Amino acid sequence: MREGTAPLIQRLDYQQPAFWIRKVDLSFDLDPAKTIVTSKMQVERNRAVPHGPLRLHGEELNLLRALINGAGVSFRQEGHELVIDNPPDEDFALEIRNTICPEKNTALSGLYTSGGSFFTQCEAEGFRRITYFLDRPDVMAVYTVTLRADATKYPVLLSNGNLVDSGTLEEPGNKGRHFAVWHDPFPKPSYLFAVVAGDLVAREQRVRTRAGKDHLLQVYVRRGDLEKTEHAMNSLIASIVWDEARFGLPLDLERFMVVGVSDFNMGAMENKGLNIFNTAALLASPATATDADFARIESIVAHEYFHNWTGNRVTCRDWFQLSLKEGLTVFRDQEFSMDMAGSSSARAVCRIQDVRQLRALQFPEDSGAMAHPVRPDSYSEINNFYTATVYEKGSEVVRMYQTLVGRKGFEAGMKLYFERHDGQAVTCDDFAQAIADANPGSALATRLDTFKRWYSQAGTPRVKAHGEHDAATRTYTLRLTQHTPATPGQPTKLPQVIPVVMGLLDRHGAALALNAAGDTETVLVLDQAEQTFVFENIDAEPVPSLLRGFSAPVVLDDGLSDAALLVLMRHDSDAFNRWEAGQRLALNRILAALRAGQPLVLSNAFIEAMRGVLNHPELDAAFKELALTLPGESYIAEQLDVVDPQAIHAAVMAAQRQLASALRDDWTAAFEANQIAGGYTPDPVSSGKRALANLALSMLVLDAQATGDTVWPGKAYQRFKDASNMTDRLGALAALVNAGAELAQPALERFHALFKDDALVIDKWFALQARAPESDGRVFARAKTLTKHADFTLKNPNRARSLLASLCMFNPAAFHRADAAGYVFWAEQVLAVDAINPQLASRIARAMDRWSVLAEPYRSAAREAVARVAAKPDLSTDVREIVERALA
Ligand code: PHE
Ligand code: ZN
Repeated sequence: MREGTAPLIQRLDYQQPAFWIRKVDLSFDLDPAKTIVTSKMQVERNRAVPHGPLRLHGEELNLLRALINGAGVSFRQEGHELVIDNPPDEDFALEIRNTICPEKNTALSGLYTSGGSFFTQCEAEGFRRITYFLDRPDVMAVYTVTLRADATKYPVLLSNGNLVDSGTLEEPGNKGRHFAVWHDPFPKPSYLFAVVAGDLVAREQRVRTRAGKDHLLQVYVRRGDLEKTEHAMNSLIASIVWDEARFGLPLDLERFMVVGVSDFNMGAMENKGLNIFNTAALLASPATATDADFARIESIVAHEYFHNWTGNRVTCRDWFQLSLKEGLTVFRDQEFSMDMAGSSSARAVCRIQDVRQLRALQFPEDSGAMAHPVRPDSYSEINNFYTATVYEKGSEVVRMYQTLVGRKGFEAGMKLYFERHDGQAVTCDDFAQAIADANPGSALATRLDTFKRWYSQAGTPRVKAHGEHDAATRTYTLRLTQHTPATPGQPTKLPQVIPVVMGLLDRHGAALALNAAGDTETVLVLDQAEQTFVFENIDAEPVPSLLRGFSAPVVLDDGLSDAALLVLMRHDSDAFNRWEAGQRLALNRILAALRAGQPLVLSNAFIEAMRGVLNHPELDAAFKELALTLPGESYIAEQLDVVDPQAIHAAVMAAQRQLASALRDDWTAAFEANQIAGGYTPDPVSSGKRALANLALSMLVLDAQATGDTVWPGKAYQRFKDASNMTDRLGALAALVNAGAELAQPALERFHALFKDDALVIDKWFALQARAPESDGRVFARAKTLTKHADFTLKNPNRARSLLASLCMFNPAAFHRADAAGYVFWAEQVLAVDAINPQLASRIARAMDRWSVLAEPYRSAAREAVARVAAKPDLSTDVREIVERALA
């Protein structure tokens, strides 16, 4: 949307609509330049609200006619609304006919073309770019959709639900055209509507679910991509099985379709029965996709499928409730991925990866200009609130329900939620109430109002722990305090409900009994600013293991010494906390060096601990890889009041070089021990081995750069050439590029030549170069040059992100330059993208969220760049909201 001033929409202003639309008959005469849309709606007045005009949303539409009960009606246009002042009191039929221009729709919201086919994207407010409607999620209608199009160019015609009719059009003027009619029996909000038309092919699979019903599953892609859909189909089948087994939620449609599209703003979309995916989140083959891609595809396919219940059957009353469906569905896909991973250690690896993601993306958001609660209070552009807070922190909130009521209790809560709300558009409060009501007397139900502060307060709570052992009474007293920092618009915060899963270890690492029953793990529920917990029969000073499994999305300061952290790292029964202890050790060193302004020197104790992990005979390769990977630069920045991205980068690089050199022989052994014979499978064990081998290789090439050795760069190049899968190939290429090896350039050229026809792989080629560790400005210079590359375009979101987001959001040392060239580049690109695709532009605009914590000279220069963008008069509301919040 593009407008001078966009109104701020407030959560507390919610009112029911003045009218309901119960049924819609939609027909499309599809043509890229001019598509005719006819919508026949059955409308009724909502008697629960005051009498008023009918106001329909519509954007970029060309209205041809409006009829009520078959007769012309007077109307007026008010901004983006079509107002009919005096509609009948009784139920009536409203017919609208309008045209739209899909081929000019570069915003990719509404009906657009991509690769010669038609696709829709309606969440959140795209349906109003197709036709006039009550485009809000609490208006739910039954849709029947007729599609007419050229039969040769668009042989496949899809919409939601079941195919009820199809054939060729005979009338003159319709020569060569065909039609299809789809009916979706489930009432749905307009954001779940979808149409696809094009020259596509499908992988098909018939399945029979537990209830004995037969279903047809289809994955539609462009001709030529069919062999890359096997993994998506397997993931879909696994998702269906899992949701029935874990939550008793069956597939409710005879036909379930998934479609891939190359131009897409997000990962994927859960349209009822017709999920539409960014091809990056759908297509995989061993030769073109990495292990991480395989895992991501599995979780996104699952995510969209799980929305069928959490989002579609029960939907959101208004967009402030977005986390009702997104937080819950992310939680479900994370649980699914853990269950699929299998072993307890593979589960821990999943959990560590999720937490790493939360810390890298959501924590900075929660302490920056865009900080907002999981259930936001206001927005001017809803698309700006599809955030890590709504999704990932929202998922952590759901996880805390489960921690407080237990797994069975949570399942009972979900059951009650569906019993009460199936077919409705509801709120986060309704969800909370259902979980609490199914678990009366639980730690949740007894403090539900306090718990719900997780929905209303922004900011990451800080928890401090201090333990004291009293030898005389043999007691250990643990004092926990909490404090949530101020965020924009929320100067003071109240205490939250923080479940702290914990245990105590003696100094040899043995688990201690926490109570008379002999439990070695318990959940402390912190719900005050300060609380103490006393443990009896503790003989000597224990080592506390707190927040196991990352039981709450908080920053914990447990004040533990390096010695205590080493005990946890070696012996904690909780794998997450073993990993965390190692990260904490590294972080402490890095922060100490940064605060002192001294070069970083790793301690022997740390290096030996890391050697111990790397050579450990029992630990999984995947865990080793995570443990030996240093904390990310954005997470380190989060720990500092004033951020100097160059100093952080220098410290991390120094730590990496020391680890590379001190463990050289161990890396060599690890590289050799983790080679896989035989064919490629993306299972957790093999992918863990590949990850560790790739880390070892990158360390060995890095070390070789320092010593002048040419053997490892040569080996890396050979491995790059001979690799039989993308994980190994990209890993070897990254090792060369990231170390700045001479062989990087020929390898990059070879890679490009090999994959020039595969857009998703070329995206990796751009991203790898834009994310490489900066040294002397070379990475920034290269990224700027790459914007002129023949394969680069701002029109394709994946391609634009592969270069722009990689550089501006994921490569702080290349982006934040003393000469401000990074910020100038950012401003230019944001404005250029904004003219094409506001949603994409506003994502990239967020690179400046945290400008105010930067050290000088970065801070002033960054602010100036943001102000320059904000001064442009015709910004989209998307970008305007981001830059204005940044300057507020
Ligand atoms: N609802 C989608 C999901 O999370 C994300 C999405 C939002 C896609 C808006 C497109 C537009 O699964
Ligand atoms: Zn979702």
